Amino acid sequence: MMPAGFVHCIGRIFVSANEYAYRHRFTLLVSLLAMLPALADQSSPQHPTAQYPAPKHLGVASCASSVCHGSVQPYPDGRIAQNEFIVWQTDRHGNMHAKAYAKLLTDEAKSIARKLGIGAAETAPECLSCHADHIPPERRGEEFQLADGVSCEACHGGAEHYIESHANPGISLADKQRDGLYPTWDPEKRAELCLSCHMGSGERMINHRIMGAGHPRLQFELDTFTYLQPHHRVDQDYINRKGRQDNARDWAVGQALAANKLLGLLQDSKHGWHGIFVEPVLLDCHSCHKRMDGDRWQARAGTGLGPGEMRLNDANLVMLQLIVAAIDPAAAERIRAGTLNLHRATTVSRRAVINAAAELQRQTAATTAQIAGHAFASDDLKRIFSHLQRGAEAGQLSDYAAAEQAAMAAVNLVTAFERAGLIEGGSLEPEIDRLFATVGDEYAYRPQRLAAAVRTLRLALP
Ligand code: HEC
Ligand code: HEC
Ligand code: HEC
Ligand code: HEC
Repeated sequence: MMPAGFVHCIGRIFVSANEYAYRHRFTLLVSLLAMLPALADQSSPQHPTAQYPAPKHLGVASCASSVCHGSVQPYPDGRIAQNEFIVWQTDRHGNMHAKAYAKLLTDEAKSIARKLGIGAAETAPECLSCHADHIPPERRGEEFQLADGVSCEACHGGAEHYIESHANPGISLADKQRDGLYPTWDPEKRAELCLSCHMGSGERMINHRIMGAGHPRLQFELDTFTYLQPHHRVDQDYINRKGRQDNARDWAVGQALAANKLLGLLQDSKHGWHGIFVEPVLLDCHSCHKRMDGDRWQARAGTGLGPGEMRLNDANLVMLQLIVAAIDPAAAERIRAGTLNLHRATTVSRRAVINAAAELQRQTAATTAQIAGHAFASDDLKRIFSHLQRGAEAGQLSDYAAAEQAAMAAVNLVTAFERAGLIEGGSLEPEIDRLFATVGDEYAYRPQRLAAAVRTLRLALP
């Protein structure tokens, strides 16, 4: 029997595939913008020392007035659309955050909580930490409600000190940040924020006990998921205020930070390990959950592991290698060697894993900074796609988690090709659909089919 969570997730990845048609409509606008002269990067300091360490969260009601973010129609011109609350609450994709708390009241959530023995899901910190803005009671303003789910302030930070000032056009992004507005516009900071729930971290940890009780498997890719819950409008005014937009960069930054997070967890004895084992949620689910009949095992060069050995879920490291190979081959080689070393360490000892993770993390940290500052040009996109194709053909994407990332990566890259004016918007829809069909069912996934679909797509690109 397939766990219900899996079927559910398969449905979700199709969301991104079907969205492709929808997505390229935006690209015309954005490709026009891309022709404008590059603007000075106006992003603010990376590590703001927040003036107020623990501001109060005032609640969604404080943001939702029709003259603030609750306008029913988007404001046609001017600065922000001001309908962010309505989008958050009603949009087909964006409303998942608004409903996150309500999901804890469902039969599915009740069953998970019962199996874990943690009381009611809607009061359990194990669940609220990601399904709501779970801050301590003393930091909740009068209108704050846990039932708001993943509320504005769960992402944008407690509004106590910026509520008055942030709408003032004269105030800089740095000042807003100082007042407690979280820098969601900075791809690194955004990735950290999203991954804290979509991959788990520290107090927000999702583990294999929660999965075992029936929680859906988590999947995340920064650029696709940002696109799937949009409530901001990327226009010239936005670029003037928030700096250059580069979807390929955001995708790459997301991969680097997710890889970095895996490596950090492997060094964290509380969250990355369980009893005598590495926390199974950090492993490739299918290295344990698969049928025992048939002759499916195949060697994967990137791991150096033999048959019957459990593998870490290294999907983000694999993607990172493909990206970095296009912009700094020597660094890519170091990531490849470090990843191989990490896989081998899993057959040696916990200490060996911790050392290998720490060593590789030094490399991924350097790479993150490099990627975040890189402007991905057409030649980079072409090279990355070629590496993706070669990786697929060499069996590097034979684990389902990597295949899923590869499919989302391909959509991002095709979109970037469109934006760069290299192909016509939407022209590769059939090829994209074929690619997504190969990852539609994780139990029926065959790497050769994925490789063939990636190849067809590559041949259709300039
Ligand atoms: C690390 C963050 C995190 C934690 C902790 C967490 N969840 Fe989730 N949960 C998510 C995310 C992210 C999703 C959406 C997954 C996806 O992409 O489909 C989700 C999805 C769900 C769903 C499916 C919702 C739907 O749309 O059908 C249920 C039910 C659920 N969680 C219940 C729980 C319960 C009960 C707990 C506590 C035992 C819990 N979650 C803890 C992050 C978390
Ligand atoms: C899951 C995280 C998340 C939630 C929840 C969220 N936002 Fe956002 N918001 C973002 C991201 C990411 C962006 C795009 C990056 C940026 O411009 O900061 C954004 C952009 C915006 C912008 C656009 C700003 C501009 O410069 O054009 C506004 C306004 C905004 N959000 C308001 C809200 C309001 C109001 C709510 C609640 C009703 C909300 N957001 C909920 C993550 C979130
Ligand atoms: C406080 C935790 C939290 C943060 C921070 C967060 N999310 Fe989520 N997100 C969730 C939960 C929980 C769900 C699932 C809710 C549900 O199933 O109703 C979810 C669902 C989503 C979905 C819908 C997924 C699907 O399968 O349809 C998207 C897209 C998404 N988040 C994007 C983002 C992005 C982008 C960011 C960062 C800007 C982000 N999230 C930050 C908790 C969070
Ligand atoms: C190290 C091996 C291993 C890995 C890796 C692993 N699991 Fe499991 N999983 C198990 C075992 C063992 C059980 C318990 C089976 C039992 O109780 O009979 C289990 C149970 C489950 C169950 C409950 C349904 C069932 O078959 O009992 C779900 C759902 C599940 N795992 C999901 C996942 C997901 C999602 C991942 C990847 C994030 C994952 N597992 C990774 C070994 C693993």
